[in-house]
Amino acid sequence: MHKASKEMKKILPQVDLIIEVLDARIPFSSQNPMLAELRGDKPCIKVLNKIDLADPELTALWQSHLEQDINVKTLTMNARHNDRIADLIALALSMVPGKVQGVKNVQTMIMGIPNVGKSTLINSLAGRQIAKTGNEPAITKMQQRIKLDKGIVLHDTPGVLWPNLENPHSGYRLAITGAIKETAIDNDDIALYAVEYLLDAYPDLLKQRFGLSEIPESGMDALEVIGTKRGCLRSGGRVDLERVAKIILTEIRAGTLGLISWEKPDIIEREWAEVLVV
Ligand code: G4P
Repeated sequence: MHKASKEMKKILPQVDLIIEVLDARIPFSSQNPMLAELRGDKPCIKVLNKIDLADPELTALWQSHLEQDINVKTLTMNARHNDRIADLIALALSMVPGKVQGVKNVQTMIMGIPNVGKSTLINSLAGRQIAKTGNEPAITKMQQRIKLDKGIVLHDTPGVLWPNLENPHSGYRLAITGAIKETAIDNDDIALYAVEYLLDAYPDLLKQRFGLSEIPESGMDALEVIGTKRGCLRSGGRVDLERVAKIILTEIRAGTLGLISWEKPDIIEREWAEVLVV
């Protein structure tokens, strides 16, 4: 992170516009904390990616929240499809008005924590496979700079940018959505956090997906009922929590429960207040 920060400081003065890729399901937790600090008042497009997995109502809420910063515009996207690439380029050009019409290249820097879909977006922007994609962090491999159509130059961010883990809830949300694969938190703890949130925010989606006759009273009850239904039993008939946790997390990450977002702007504000008190 230190190296990335130093190199970013070096590149930033040459950059007209920043494109930050976020996971639309967790726009706060998928941010890199260094960016806000280093960006100053440079224009920034926050791409809310993986829109095909996120709750559209909460995404709209996040868009207005993020755009309270006058230097920020947001764009929703499914980077696996190319249908918003022209919109992204048009927005980028509109945010750096002095450089339009090919008079001078617009220098942009693209950044994002691992797994938000940065490489997928770079490939869509370039119209060819130049960045390696996959679900393991830190495997973006592209040349440092590429020239796109319409006079846009794209600089990749050097190094790996980590998310902000100061808010303990962010660690859970990054693990639930699959941004972080290896964590110190056990799968059953992550799945318990996930079902507790789902019981509160999306109980019907949980009920429908796992064919529950009623909404369980607690997260533990939900794990037990789902584990029994899915045959995750140890000898003696006790539910194997690790196995049911894996099933639940795999289904959540694949989006089979429906469109779900894992944080709201007002929840984050409350959580920050708690972090600051501690
Ligand atoms: P990164 O450079 O930020 O680390 O992320 P990358 O593009 O490698 O994307 C990480 C995973 O997220 C990839 O899945 C990619 O296909 C997926 N992804 C990217 N954008 C979107 C999106 O808008 N919606 C959804 N649903 N998924 C998206 P993968 O299964 O690991 O790799 P692959 O099999 O697609 O190559």
